[in-house]
Amino acid sequence: MKSFKIAPSILSADFARLGQDVDAVLEAGADIVHFDVMDNHYVPNLTIGPMVCKALRDYGVTAPIDVHLMVKPVDRIIGDFLEAGASYITFHPEGSEHVDRSLQLIKSAGCKAGLVFNPATPLHHMDYVMDKLDMVLLMSVNPGFGGQKFIPGTLDKLREARAKIDASGLDIRLEIDGGVNTQNIREIAEAGADTFVAGSAIFGADDYKSVIDIMRAELAK
Ligand code: DX5
Ligand code: ZN
Repeated sequence: MKSFKIAPSILSADFARLGQDVDAVLEAGADIVHFDVMDNHYVPNLTIGPMVCKALRDYGVTAPIDVHLMVKPVDRIIGDFLEAGASYITFHPEGSEHVDRSLQLIKSAGCKAGLVFNPATPLHHMDYVMDKLDMVLLMSVNPGFGGQKFIPGTLDKLREARAKIDASGLDIRLEIDGGVNTQNIREIAEAGADTFVAGSAIFGADDYKSVIDIMRAELAK
């Protein structure tokens, strides 16, 4: 098992003072900045793009930025995120006509690549591209909005994904996204996740550090 990483989703951050809010959550102990990109086409919401990713880098954010593309088609925006300083780029197989090609595009620039699985999307989409994956992200809500409730069936899917990754012997992180909080993070970890996206649970709190500390204490149990 890899080390656990906590990745606050800046979807729930204060966009009017994003740089400071990202600094605050990193100072509070976050490991990764989760960056949700929505296009009002693949998902019914519109958020932020490569200019904002670059702005965070120019502002001085050095932590890994985990770009989650809820975008269709994905290919034409990948290059902009590579230039904007993304550390990971993950996308939904439904957003690409040629999943292997999109993964190669990301990897060719030295960026880490991953596939994202909606609650109803089967895991077999990863089967023939595992050698190109640095991350598998399971959605535990339907994508588009923060603040939704964790779908319990995702726990079995996590166990299935964990078994596939372990059987492959490859170095692939298993990330979970949607409805993660201090109450459920422990059982999510037990089901196999090693990287935890949390938006509203962290940014909705007055004290980010206390939430992240509780999450880490739960993970250490
Ligand atoms: C949903 C996004 C998530 C979301 C998580 O489409 O991919 O990253 O912001 O938010 P919470 O933790 O509030 O469910
Ligand atoms: Zn996300």
